[in-house]
Amino acid sequence: MLQHWHPLCPARRVRRKPLEIQLAGQSLVVFRTKSGDVGVLDNVCPHRRMKLSCGHVTEDAVVCPYHGWAFDCEGNGTSPGTPRLHCTTTAFEVVEKHGFVWARLKNSLTEFPVLDEPGFTVVRPVEQRIQAPLELVLDNFTEVEHAATVHRFIGYSLGGMHRVTSIVAASADRVSGDNRGPQKPVPAIVRWMFGIPKGAEFHWEWITRFSPVHTRYDEFWTSQDSDQPLGVRGRIYAFFVPIDTTSTRLVIFAAFRLPWAGWFNQICLTFREIARQMVRFEIRQDMRMIEQLADTRTEMEGMKLSRFDRTLGLHRERISRVYRNAAQTDSEASVFRVEASVRLNHREQVRHEDP
Ligand code: FES
Ligand SMILES: [Fe+2]
Repeated sequence: MLQHWHPLCPARRVRRKPLEIQLAGQSLVVFRTKSGDVGVLDNVCPHRRMKLSCGHVTEDAVVCPYHGWAFDCEGNGTSPGTPRLHCTTTAFEVVEKHGFVWARLKNSLTEFPVLDEPGFTVVRPVEQRIQAPLELVLDNFTEVEHAATVHRFIGYSLGGMHRVTSIVAASADRVSGDNRGPQKPVPAIVRWMFGIPKGAEFHWEWITRFSPVHTRYDEFWTSQDSDQPLGVRGRIYAFFVPIDTTSTRLVIFAAFRLPWAGWFNQICLTFREIARQMVRFEIRQDMRMIEQLADTRTEMEGMKLSRFDRTLGLHRERISRVYRNAAQTDSEASVFRVEASVRLNHREQVRHEDP
């Protein structure tokens, strides 16, 4: 898994003091050198296994607090007591982009995920730790049935759920969903802010890719008898980053296309912050619900699935094949044991099911 580009932490949090970040069961140390470069290393000192994140940063290296060995961003180490000793630790390839530090194992062939948002107003990223495995978090964020009951602003009205159409399509490395139905009632101020007409249809379209596991959402409204988007459009990217086998870090990059953006920039600033708080609020509702699951095994056996759950099996197969197994190294396999037993009982085909 570590060969995929993952968002580790907001770039502004990476200062001279080293940080410990968990990724897929492995502890990493993230630090910034005096010249501003960011280093991401295995957080275990190769000498006698002290956490490097307990140390400090000198000019260009993180220094282990135990015996003072120092490691630069490339993982090259020096020992003050034995200057001719050769030692190295695993160093990751690092990129700072979209306000985050991203890392992957060196010499990997994976592509950096595309965040395509030209013409959109970008809001500050949102992070949330959820106490559930990756599969169960992704299950929640790629089905619309819960939105009627769990969410305040996003999604369909409960009484209109039977009218919601849900189309799922899949290829070898992605799964997409197109959903359309009656918008749930929201406060008038929200309708005004987002330009949602009365009786509007809410469109919720997503594509999930698996290197790393992330979903792009396109959210917009139309009138009932048209496909012409009205008001604000949302484009949201959610990255599902496994901390370990029982918890997941959700990283959200949200952007909005505002019809009035050119008119009054101050409104856009205000809108940005309000929209960010709404995204945070809704994600917390998801978190509260997911963390109450009676059983956090990822197997689908025994679940009574509905027409909104077609993605579950498709996702598990791709997580297993594309995300977990792609060129997995022995050391990775030893730090993160895949617990999911995958049952592929969902046919992979485009289906359009009217209720
Ligand atoms: S354990 Fe790190 S220098 Fe000894
Ligand atoms: Fe949700």
